[in-house]
Amino acid sequence: MGIKELLQQRRSIRAFSDQPVSQSKIEAILLEAGLSASGGNLQPWKVYVLAGQARQGLIDAVASKLAQGLTQDNTDAETYPARLKEPYRTRRYDCGMALYDALGIDRKDRPARQRQWEANLTFFGAPVGLMFTMDRLMGKAQYLDLGIFFQTVMLSAQERGLSTCAQRSWAPWGQTISEQLNIADDEQVIVGMALGYADTTDAVNQYEMGRAGLDEIASFDGF
Ligand SMILES: Cc1cc2nc3c(=O)[nH]c(=O)nc-3n(C[C@H](O)[C@H](O)[C@H](O)COP(=O)(O)O)c2cc1C
Repeated sequence: MGIKELLQQRRSIRAFSDQPVSQSKIEAILLEAGLSASGGNLQPWKVYVLAGQARQGLIDAVASKLAQGLTQDNTDAETYPARLKEPYRTRRYDCGMALYDALGIDRKDRPARQRQWEANLTFFGAPVGLMFTMDRLMGKAQYLDLGIFFQTVMLSAQERGLSTCAQRSWAPWGQTISEQLNIADDEQVIVGMALGYADTTDAVNQYEMGRAGLDEIASFDGF
């Protein structure tokens, strides 16, 4: 499949079939993604790949914290700026609404919205969960590197008929994740990812997010 088809076909998948994914397939994906460019060739990314008991152990650990009424275990994992300005505010709002509309969740139904958010913390039922970390000493430029690697993992998975959902929602649980996976103190959990075969019948997978037009994201000069 060409890059154009991969980019067009990839979308965030939030319900998966039980079909397992072999370790060798994931190794191939990560080796491919490892070909990504990075500043100074630092390759600052690390990935923890979880299936079976390892995956379930993490899900259970976070679930027990949620059951105690906790919503996070570290406070330096803000995903969005406190006050988003336009056009980002509207884009974020539309993103949430598209999801809730697909699931028939009323915007005012906070418990239902919360339940959907918490589904993140089960990897949306995907048989494989990935945790992406970087050394805490890394800076903004290395976040770029990780992003390039991260997108390449998604595309490489897509090429193998697998689906993904990027999950920043794991970041507020960095401490629990680190404890469960024996991640060293100098590493920071940046983002998670659900990986598996899509359940194409589930309503949550039936919508597609639009994108801003070229006029909004680019300017050309001197042509
Ligand atoms: C870094 C990153 C983090 C994300 N975190 C989450 C998440 O925690 N939960 C979720 O449901 N979607 C998450 N998403 C998915 C976005 O909502 C999605 O990419 C966006 O709406 C565009 O839709 P598409 O991926 O289907 O094209 C994340 C995407 C990225 C790139």
